Amino acid sequence: MTTNRFPDGFLWGTATAAYQIEGAVDEDGRTPSIWDTFSHTPGAVLRSDNGDVACDHYHRWRDDLDLLDDLGVNAYRFSIAWPRVIPEAGGNVNPKGLDFYEGLVDELLSRDITPVVTLYHWDLPQYLQDLGGWANRDTADRFGDYVAAVAERLADRVPYWLTLNEPYCSSFVGHAQGLHAPGLRDEAVAVRALHHLLLAHGTAVQRLRDQGVGGKVGITCNLTAPYPASDADDDVAAAHRLDLVENRMFLDPLFRGSYPPDAAEYFRTVTDFDFVQAGDLATIAQPLDFFGINYYEQHAVQASAEGAHPGWHRVPDPDPTIVGIGVHPEGLHTVLTRVARDYTSVPLMVTETGIALHDYVDPDGRVNDAERVSFYESHIRAAHRAIDDGVPLIGFFPWSLMDDFEWSWGYGYRYGMHYVDYATQARIPKDSAHWFAKVARANGLVEPSLGGARP
Ligand code: FCB
Repeated sequence: MTTNRFPDGFLWGTATAAYQIEGAVDEDGRTPSIWDTFSHTPGAVLRSDNGDVACDHYHRWRDDLDLLDDLGVNAYRFSIAWPRVIPEAGGNVNPKGLDFYEGLVDELLSRDITPVVTLYHWDLPQYLQDLGGWANRDTADRFGDYVAAVAERLADRVPYWLTLNEPYCSSFVGHAQGLHAPGLRDEAVAVRALHHLLLAHGTAVQRLRDQGVGGKVGITCNLTAPYPASDADDDVAAAHRLDLVENRMFLDPLFRGSYPPDAAEYFRTVTDFDFVQAGDLATIAQPLDFFGINYYEQHAVQASAEGAHPGWHRVPDPDPTIVGIGVHPEGLHTVLTRVARDYTSVPLMVTETGIALHDYVDPDGRVNDAERVSFYESHIRAAHRAIDDGVPLIGFFPWSLMDDFEWSWGYGYRYGMHYVDYATQARIPKDSAHWFAKVARANGLVEPSLGGARP
């Protein structure tokens, strides 16, 4: 018996990103990205892990596609590494870089798995960082050139394109918090980078359409569900401010062609937005065919006296997972319904959601990740409730296919449906993989659920 049946043709997939799984960082002409540089910077990543080898997916990709077959999914989201395609300043295209992704796309299509291609999942070529990176307006045009090169090869075959993954992380986490590459702690630079990232997105949409891509074009933002910790006016205002930083700074320009009305005041002490030029917002607000949402966080927010702005403070979750955030499936419903109600009527796709655990292999060879099953189940229910409420949701992609290099957490935290034994590169399906395969095959939740309660 299937409950919560999803619409016919719903995309059940799983997501990965190039630097997190590929390894082979200096093969076939690839040059370093900002994440190679950052991960090799002492102190930047937990235990000094890096993506030099990662899951060795660059060599094992066919076997990894077998894992998708086993899961019974009909879609797969992965990213293309810019420094494989245009490894050096000057813009020459490296055919070997494109060969790899063409092989992947063709093999997916031959297996009836829909490729969903992310064009930028944080691996900016280091040679562009040396010229200022996302703080440099020119990077947006270089992104357009790279995207056009990819499209020239794959325009006829890729059904879904995502320009950027999580511009919030690329801008604020990378340039203000210093926790991601390039590791800067300068909020003025972060807001400038944010603008250039969005400009890069709009430019890429134009370049894709100029190339006559047949597929649908979108972007993925990580959106959160902040809410005031109390009815007090200052907490309500603080939640609105966090919503500005985490959500509206991206949604408003993309869908309304303007920065939010309160942005200038909030960022008053760090920037006057002098980097915004005439016509930029129109470029950024290109019509999209679909919109990707990564959902991980819902926060209670309190007013705070700290920080450069009228402050906000995320109340620590009473029941945090190992990465310090709670499990709040209702926030996914909030985010989906909000975007569909307030911003756009295009189809939405949950391009990521997931939970980090300290998974381990039992003596009998099994990986019992009941908490992940329970996480997926609750979030799939929330997604279905959003569909019931009128949200045009077309896909659901848990993060991730397998354990991987988790950015500044290195290999310490595991998000995969497959356990990766990094010493042998063996992939072991966790209980969540077996469970998700049933969901994907049934196009909905299967009762009785295998899901366990959180211990
Ligand atoms: C998201 C990233 C993804 C992964 C998950 C856990 O922010 O897009 O690459 O690391 O977090």
